[in-house]
Amino acid sequence: MTGLFITIEGPDGSGKSTQMVRLCHLLEQLGFSVVQTREPGGTVIADKIRGLLLDPLHCEMTSRTEALLYMAARAQHTAQLIRPALAAGAVVISDRFADSSLVYQGVARGLPQIDLVWLNRFAAEGLTPDLTLLLDGTVERLAERLAERGHRDRLDREGITFHQRVRQGFLELAASEPGRIRVIEADRDIESVWKDIKACVMDFLMKRGRSHAVADQ
Ligand code: TYD
Repeated sequence: MTGLFITIEGPDGSGKSTQMVRLCHLLEQLGFSVVQTREPGGTVIADKIRGLLLDPLHCEMTSRTEALLYMAARAQHTAQLIRPALAAGAVVISDRFADSSLVYQGVARGLPQIDLVWLNRFAAEGLTPDLTLLLDGTVERLAERLAERGHRDRLDREGITFHQRVRQGFLELAASEPGRIRVIEADRDIESVWKDIKACVMDFLMKRGRSHAVADQ
C-alpha cells in the first residue's frame, strides 16, 4: 500500500508546529508509520539550503534566487525522503511544501505563477499532497506570535504588507483547490484548532478507505 502525503501550510506564526506534533501523535496512535518533516529542510543538503535562505544577513538575495533555492531544497527533499517514505507506506507530514512557493515567491514576491507551477512540478517530480491543512489567522495575531517567538529569520522580518499578501495568497489557493486544501481557523486556542484538524483528518482517512484505523479509535 502506498502512503499518504499531508502538508500543513499557513503564514509565519500560524501555530503549525504545535498542531503538527499532535497530528503525528494521533496518526501514530492509529497505527500509521509517520514521517514528520519540513520545508525547506528534511535532508542534509536541503537543511544547508535552508541556512542560506533564512539567514537574516542575506538581504541582497533576489526573488529568483530565493525561488530556485526553495525548489532545489524541495527536489532533494522529495527524492531523498518523501518519495521513499511514501513508497514504504508511511504517512508523510510536511510543515510546508510547494504551496508555500506559489504563495511566498508567487503572490507575495510577484514572480510569475506559471513559472513556479512548472518549477514545482520539476522539483517535486509531479508529487502533490493528498491533503493540505491551511492554518489561517489575521496578520495582527500572527505578528504577536512571531514577537513571542523572539528569533526572527529573513522572511519573518518582511513587513505587514508582505504577510497580508501571503495570507490572501493562501486563501485564494485554498479556494481554487477546495478538495485538497482545508482551511482551519487558527486565531483560537490550541484545543479548538486541534479539534478541527482532527475532525478534518479523520474525515480524510475515511474517504481514503483507511477507515479501519479510524474505527479502531
Ligand atoms: P520557518 O522557520 O520554517 O517558518 P515557519 O515556522 O513559519 O514555517 O521558515 C520557513 C520560511 O520560508 C517561511 O517564512 C516561509 C518561507 N518559504 C517560502 O518563502 N517558500 C517556500 O517554498 C517555503 C517552503 C517556505
